[in-house]
Amino acid sequence: MPDKQPGFAGSLRHLVRPRHLEHTAVSGVDLSVEAGEAVAYLGPNGAGKSTTVKLLIGILQPTAGEVRVCGLKPYRDRHANARNVGVLFGQRSHLWWDLQVRDSLALLRDLYRIPTRRYKERLAEFDDLLGLGELMPVVARKLSLGQRMRADLAAALLHAPPVVFLDEPTIGLDINARDAVRRFLRKICDDGATLLLTTHDIGDIEEVCRRVVIIDRGRIVFDGPIDRVKELVTRQRIVHFTLDPEWAGTVVLDPGWVTRLQNRLPAVMLVVDGAPHQISVAFDSASYGAGEIVSAVAARMPVVDLRIDETSIEDVVRRAYAGELNEPFRDVVT
Ligand SMILES: Nc1ncnc2c1ncn2[C@@H]1O[C@H](COP(=O)(O)OP(=O)(O)OP(=O)(O)O)[C@@H](O)[C@H]1O
Ligand SMILES: [Mg+2]
Repeated sequence: MPDKQPGFAGSLRHLVRPRHLEHTAVSGVDLSVEAGEAVAYLGPNGAGKSTTVKLLIGILQPTAGEVRVCGLKPYRDRHANARNVGVLFGQRSHLWWDLQVRDSLALLRDLYRIPTRRYKERLAEFDDLLGLGELMPVVARKLSLGQRMRADLAAALLHAPPVVFLDEPTIGLDINARDAVRRFLRKICDDGATLLLTTHDIGDIEEVCRRVVIIDRGRIVFDGPIDRVKELVTRQRIVHFTLDPEWAGTVVLDPGWVTRLQNRLPAVMLVVDGAPHQISVAFDSASYGAGEIVSAVAARMPVVDLRIDETSIEDVVRRAYAGELNEPFRDVVT
C-alpha cells in the first residue's frame, strides 16, 4: 500500500517518488469448503474477510500459498472463475449507477449468455423471493439501501453460480429487507449452492450456516459448528452496575467481596472497570437468572443503576482470538 508522509510536501514527494509498505492482510488461512456447504466467515473489522473474498474471486493474487475455487485458480482463470462464482460486496453496488435495474440485468444476461427462457425464469424467481419486479424500472442510484441490496443480489446470482460469496449482504438493512435477504439465502442454500457468508449479524448465520470460521489479523482462530458459538452467545449474559459514587467502600479495595460473591454464585465472572463505582458481572444464564445476580450485588453495595447485556458475536470473536473460550471451544485452530 502507498506510504505517504503527511502534509502537502508529503503528497508532492509521494507523487514524484511513491514509497510502498507491505501489509499482510491474510496469512495462515487454511480453509477448505465442501460443495454445498454454507460457511459463516466472521471476524472483527480489518481481520481480512474481504481480502479473502477478493482472493477467491481473483481480484487479488496471493503472494504465497494457493487458492482454488472449483479446481480453478481465481487469479489466473478469472473469466472461467466468474462463471462459477457469484459475489456481492454489501458495501458497494455492482449495478450500473445510471441504468434502470432492468437494463443492468439485461446487460449481465448478455455478458453471461443466459438463454431468454432461463433469464425469464430467473427474474420470476427473484421477483418471488426479493420483490424484484417493483425495482426493475428504477435507476440504480435512486434505490434505497434495502432496494439496492435486493437488486444487487439478483445481479450477483443471475447466472445461478454454484459458488456464492456474500460480504455483508445485510449491512444497514431494516428488519423487513433483512428478512427478505435471509429467506433468499436459505433458498439458495437449499438449492445446493456453496456459500461463504461474511456478516456481523448472528441472525444471518443462524438462518443459513452450520459451520463458522472466525478469523482475526489474517489467521483462523476458530473453525467449528454454529451450535458451539450459539451456545456461548446465548448463554453468557452480563450485568453492568453503577454504584453510588458517594459510597465509602470500593470493590477494588475489597477483594474479599469478590470472593464472597463468587462463593455465593459459583462460576460468575466479575469485571471491575477502571472506575471504582462501575462493576460488571458475567454469568451463565443456564445457571442463574439476572435477578439472582442483581439481588446478590444489591444486598452488599449501593446500586444506583444497572444494564443487562447479551453477549454479541463480536465478544465471541474477541474471546476466540484471546484464546479465552470455554472448554467446548478448545478446538480452536491456531
Ligand atoms: N488495498 C489494500 N492495501 C493495503 N492494505 C489493505 C488493502 N485492503 C485491505 N487492506 C488491509 O488488510 C487488512 C484486512 O482488510 P479486510 O478489508 O480484508 O478486512 P475485513 O475483515 O473485511 O474488515 P471489515 O469487517 O472492516 O470489512 C486490513 O488491515 C486492511 O487495512
Ligand atoms: Mg470487509
